[in-house]
Amino acid sequence: MIRLPVSCQTTGTAESKGECMDKILVLDFGGQYNQLIARRVRELSVYAEIKAYSAISPGEIAKAKYKGIIFTGGPDSVNEKNAPHCSPEVLNLEIPVLGICYGAQLMAYLSGGTVSEAENSSEYGKTELTVKGGKLFENIPQSSICWMSHTDYISMLPEGFEINAETEKCPCAAISNQVRNLYAVQFHPEVTHTEYGTMILKNFIFGICGCKAGWKMDSFIDASVGKYKEKLRDKRVLLALSGGVDSSVAAMLLHRAVGDNLVCVFVDNGLLRKDEADLVENTFKGKFGINLIRVNASERFLSKLAGVTEPEKKRRIIGEEFIRVFEEEAKKLGRINILAQGTIYPDVIESGRGDSATIKSHHNVGGLPDKISFEEIVEPLRDLFKDEVRQVGIFLGLPEELALRQPFPGPGLAVRIIGEVTKEKADILREADAIFREEVKTRNADKSANQYFAVLTDTRTVGVMGDARTYGYTLALRAVTTDDFMTAEWTRLPYEVLERVSSRITNEVKGISRVVYDITSKPPATVEWE
Ligand code: XMP
Repeated sequence: MIRLPVSCQTTGTAESKGECMDKILVLDFGGQYNQLIARRVRELSVYAEIKAYSAISPGEIAKAKYKGIIFTGGPDSVNEKNAPHCSPEVLNLEIPVLGICYGAQLMAYLSGGTVSEAENSSEYGKTELTVKGGKLFENIPQSSICWMSHTDYISMLPEGFEINAETEKCPCAAISNQVRNLYAVQFHPEVTHTEYGTMILKNFIFGICGCKAGWKMDSFIDASVGKYKEKLRDKRVLLALSGGVDSSVAAMLLHRAVGDNLVCVFVDNGLLRKDEADLVENTFKGKFGINLIRVNASERFLSKLAGVTEPEKKRRIIGEEFIRVFEEEAKKLGRINILAQGTIYPDVIESGRGDSATIKSHHNVGGLPDKISFEEIVEPLRDLFKDEVRQVGIFLGLPEELALRQPFPGPGLAVRIIGEVTKEKADILREADAIFREEVKTRNADKSANQYFAVLTDTRTVGVMGDARTYGYTLALRAVTTDDFMTAEWTRLPYEVLERVSSRITNEVKGISRVVYDITSKPPATVEWE
């Protein structure tokens, strides 16, 4: 979680002078949207701290002077024997509480109400909400859409509570005891499908808790830099810098904290995009004076990939080879205390998805060097979402070209070259991909596409150039529009842009005789071809 500025963490003197910013406690009962709740609060410029329900006592909550508490959702039923319950005392601290989903049921249960399993009234997805009143629903129309996901429901109100909203199947979709400042909603205001979710959170945070908006991304930067300055004093920190957004921002942040004690290793595996390796070196070493070791390992990677066509095998080879190169470089550096990683919150959720099927293994999430020992691994961005990481990068002065760049897979062009990867194919793809990206950008077509790139297929087709027959590769163009990359629409790029790209590529890139456009969404296709 994002920690407080150091001044607030240490003695409390700043706090007692009233200088500390307002903060909300997100009490975590294990739901899937917990981080999202904290993020929504942060978006409203109020600092939010997530704590497991069992990790903080009512006394500690009172001492920390939270302005409000949010109980999150969770997968359990409050009536189960081992269901996560916090102390009922939390409701008596005279701090406003908002319970969401499981958190709402828990609030009702701890206050003497009844929670039952809904026989026919479980609700999933968009549901019409009818508002009856109450402080939480100020400036919200009587009828709107909310996002429901529950089996249990509050079947009997606790004493002193009233109903503030209902749905067709859920009589207690929102309840409150306004005298005690306790509010509960069965639906999820934090997800965007709830039409007035942000307004509900605003009403709670500002109207009910009385918070002042004062938290910004630069507060996160100050807090992190302060924290790591202290924690990593006199330690040598090693970071694998790929040039992607996450590791770049991690490098900038840690460089601010530890200066020359940060060493970045950048491995050029021969599978990067055109001019990418130079851009990384010029930016980090040239512009920011960061200790950067560029390892030119193209030949090594390409020789390991020779003859390999199976996508997962390619990924595995690249992941393993990367670790070996990284270990060798680390060894040359002598004693290193800390390994830093640019892990961000979605990586944490994705890699924590226990038994879900592996669609593609993302090597940059799992692999860690095993031949070097570190005292600790630090992950300064592990609580941030991608767009928050980009904002941090911009605040830190990272050029937009790097901070706003589109995702690029760890295995690089290897998963965009179908079949065997060779230097010749990588060079062809690099040129074609650069033309595609340049044209989309300069013709302003990039606003609708969140990721766009070229793929070199393994299919050769016949073409004609002048009077001669050609027999070259088929290149596929891929552009997708998406919020989260979990699902994606193929982007309707203007025909003129596609036409220009096709013409330039077939004329300028030797070895390509045909260009096609991928019009498949995800699902059923994935974004990358391999
Ligand atoms: P897919 O192809 O799974 O891609 O629909 C979703 C997003 O993830 C990126 N991607 C990867 N990123 N290592 C990465 O770091 C990988 O192995 C990898 N495979 C896919 C992809 O570019 C898209 O943004």
